[in-house]
Amino acid sequence: MLGLSRFSLEGEVALVTGGSRGIGRATALGFAEAGADVVVASRKLPDLEKVADEIRGVGRKALPVAAHVGRMEDIHRLVETVMAEFGRIDILVNNAGSSPALSTVLDIEERLWDSIMNLNLKGLYFLSQAVARVMKEHGGGKIINVSSIDGYKPEHSIGPYSIAKAAVIMATKSMALELAPYNIRVNAVAPGGVATRLFDSRWFDVPEVEMKEQKSAFAKALPLQRVGDPDDMVGAIIYLASDASSYVTGETIIADGGFLLT
Ligand SMILES: NC(=O)c1ccc[n+]([C@@H]2O[C@H](COP(=O)([O-])OP(=O)(O)OC[C@H]3O[C@@H](n4cnc5c(N)ncnc54)[C@H](OP(=O)(O)O)[C@@H]3O)[C@@H](O)[C@H]2O)c1
Repeated sequence: MLGLSRFSLEGEVALVTGGSRGIGRATALGFAEAGADVVVASRKLPDLEKVADEIRGVGRKALPVAAHVGRMEDIHRLVETVMAEFGRIDILVNNAGSSPALSTVLDIEERLWDSIMNLNLKGLYFLSQAVARVMKEHGGGKIINVSSIDGYKPEHSIGPYSIAKAAVIMATKSMALELAPYNIRVNAVAPGGVATRLFDSRWFDVPEVEMKEQKSAFAKALPLQRVGDPDDMVGAIIYLASDASSYVTGETIIADGGFLLT
């Protein structure tokens, strides 16, 4: 019988990158409600401290760590900090990601390409490596990568982001294959449009009234007729982080309100 206790994260230690807002914050709070102690990492400590207070508010331990996950030295310092505090990492959510500027194939410069790849792909891969080494020593773990529908269907002027997010789907499969012998499962979620700062950034140069109209048109064109909320992502992520998904690895769950059906 499948009891709901198989969705519990009681006694587990989770590390969520990009945990200060948006999907990462919702995930960190969802994990805490499911019973996990949670480390939240991103570049800005004051934002993380607020989320850490919310996690403590539901009775779990929290640790905010400032780290740029596109930088190797920060990745290693992050893992060392978590190990010093908790001595283990059971769940890693590679959620930090962004596309800091628009550019096309005809005019992108190497620096922008590198910064997008470093955060969305290289950082995800090497943080997974560092955490998987710890998980291997402790008998297993779960890694969840946050990809995007852009990894399936390109969006104009953010090509390298789409390319990185497509690579995240393959990184998930590749890591799942290699880490399965160590009882480490690796899966991904691919969100569609979710109301966060990143989602709003696509209208950064559009006047507010127009932005509202365009957002509303975007929502109406979706089969579920609404933009996602960060909380809409949490159920899929808790499923992949918990024993409820014990026989699932290398998979990507698309949570896009039906966007890719159209
Ligand atoms: N929202 C959507 O529509 C959507 C759709 C598909 C996929 N996604 C994916 O979902 C994930 C979360 O995005 P979101 O929408 O929740 O975005 P968000 O609200 O803008 O949050 C992004 C988070 O990542 C952190 N971050 C950014 N750059 C970082 C870096 N270099 N090192 C460490 N942390 C960094 C940010 O904190 P700091 O600024 O303090 O570093 C913040 O906590 C991303 O991987 C994104 O690609 C989002």
